[in-house]
Amino acid sequence: MRITIIGAGNMARGIATRALAGGHTVTLTGKDPAKAARLAEELSAQAAGDAAVRAGDDSAVDPAELVVMAVPFAAAKELTASLGARLSGKVLVDISNPVDASLEALVVAPGTSAAEEIAGAAAPGTRVVKAFNTTFATTLVTGQVGGTALDVFIAGDDEPARKQVAQLVTSGGLHAVDVGALRHARELEGLQLLHMALQLSEDGYGWASTVKIVAP
Ligand SMILES: NC(=O)c1ccc[n+]([C@@H]2O[C@H](COP(=O)([O-])OP(=O)(O)OC[C@H]3O[C@@H](n4cnc5c(N)ncnc54)[C@H](OP(=O)(O)O)[C@@H]3O)[C@@H](O)[C@H]2O)c1
Repeated sequence: MRITIIGAGNMARGIATRALAGGHTVTLTGKDPAKAARLAEELSAQAAGDAAVRAGDDSAVDPAELVVMAVPFAAAKELTASLGARLSGKVLVDISNPVDASLEALVVAPGTSAAEEIAGAAAPGTRVVKAFNTTFATTLVTGQVGGTALDVFIAGDDEPARKQVAQLVTSGGLHAVDVGALRHARELEGLQLLHMALQLSEDGYGWASTVKIVAP
């Protein structure tokens, strides 16, 4: 799959690492092109077989089948609006956690979610999927916590788009959990607000925990 990741920070590194493990072609693009180029150079050592990684400019969005917004929520919404029809037909993955600075509250109104706001800002035909918001960046780099593959919860109104994201997830060695419609992003964002707040508690988990469903 041709994947473009917008952003060159911690989550771009984590998701690109898993995408390369899955044999995908990754282009990194960001507001600081030199930072994206440095990350691509660093990750290129992990690109085996058909996998490849490079840095690109804004035009890297055009050939992508799947675009990941690895930027803060407000920037993701703005970029989605400004890219407009260039995202039509593509899978647009929202990974954001719209939390306030104290990790006490969501900054989106009750009854909606960052993913739904991004979908509202997107041009018609953009297939918005929520994924990766409950996986901390460091855990994505290793792909596991305590020897168990991470769960990646996937929400979206377009079933083939959810399946495409699930394919990225499973090819990268993770476990895909399809939770259905995009409105379930509300629960995923609320769950991760709690998960993030727990990191700050006295016996916090050091941003090394993950959210997982365990079944017999
Ligand atoms: N970190 C986690 O463990 C984690 C887990 C799940 C979800 N998330 C979500 O993932 C997203 C990215 O988080 P991160 O931890 O990767 O953050 P990060 O390390 O700070 O990286 C953010 C990236 O976004 C770019 N950026 C910031 N503002 C921008 C703007 N206005 N326009 C374009 N690009 C902009 C930054 O560029 P510069 O460096 O040049 O400023 C950087 O490349 C966030 O929405 C976050 O809620 C994070």
